Amino acid sequence: MIELRDVHRTYRRPREVHALRGVSLNIEAGQRFGIVGESGSGKSTLVRLLAGLDRPTSGEIHFEGRRVDGLPDRKLGFLRSALQVVFQDPMGSLDPRMRVRDIICEPLGRRDPGRVAELLTAVGLPEDAAGRYPHQFSGGQRQRISIARALAPRPRVLVADEPVSALDVSVRKQVLDLLAELTGRFELTLVFVSHDLAVVRRVCDTVAVMRHGELVELGAVDQVYDDPRHPYTRELIAAAPNLRAELARLQGGR
Ligand SMILES: Nc1ncnc2c1ncn2[C@@H]1O[C@H](COP(=O)(O)OP(=O)(O)OP(=O)(O)O)[C@@H](O)[C@H]1O
Ligand SMILES: [Mg+2]
Repeated sequence: MIELRDVHRTYRRPREVHALRGVSLNIEAGQRFGIVGESGSGKSTLVRLLAGLDRPTSGEIHFEGRRVDGLPDRKLGFLRSALQVVFQDPMGSLDPRMRVRDIICEPLGRRDPGRVAELLTAVGLPEDAAGRYPHQFSGGQRQRISIARALAPRPRVLVADEPVSALDVSVRKQVLDLLAELTGRFELTLVFVSHDLAVVRRVCDTVAVMRHGELVELGAVDQVYDDPRHPYTRELIAAAPNLRAELARLQGGR
């Protein structure tokens, strides 16, 4: 569904940074593909490239068999509806002057009250949320609004970049469960970025480990977590001593 071939992304300002250094990977339809790695390893850069919000310095990106990395914005309409992104900070990504119904319909380019009602229900918000503004909701509810907006154009791929990192620990599990449920219900391919290993293990079937702009390990989550091959992956796991307890907590109530 998504293929990256030797993708590089170098930023020149404010200083030269090799954010991605030759990343190649395949994401198959229906996969729940996790990307982990420490801060600055290039995860969000990868997300922006996948979504066509930025272009690689070199290398190729293919989406459903079409090469997309060289396409100008005006030719990326198909990608924008097929692949939607949920960002970390719902306050930063929701326009405070827009009502929820308009936020949700934004990617559609037209008003559709029926679709708004359907999506609000899908994400567990009351239908009367449609007429309210983002600041009238809690952090977890705002992330539900972002998820509803992302689902509006019926994407095939949902990309979530640290979707629960800005939320209170107490609501993380609910939002993760919602993402997992919607991914299954709408048969979405999920690309899920997090520096939190427990969260990725909970939600994903496959995991890619990034370090300094390189992909150092890729495999089935259970295999990578139980039998990591790369020393850096071992380090990451060792640096998360509460992984087991955290996983148990995220799995609680099942
Ligand atoms: N627009 C930009 N301009 C210049 N440098 C950038 C830009 N975006 C990212 N970088 C740099 O590229 C590197 C990778 O950043 P990126 O945001 O992809 O990392 P990340 O893995 O998402 O980190 P985090 O876990 O903190 O979100 C970092 O060194 C960062 O400072
Ligand atoms: Mg990031």
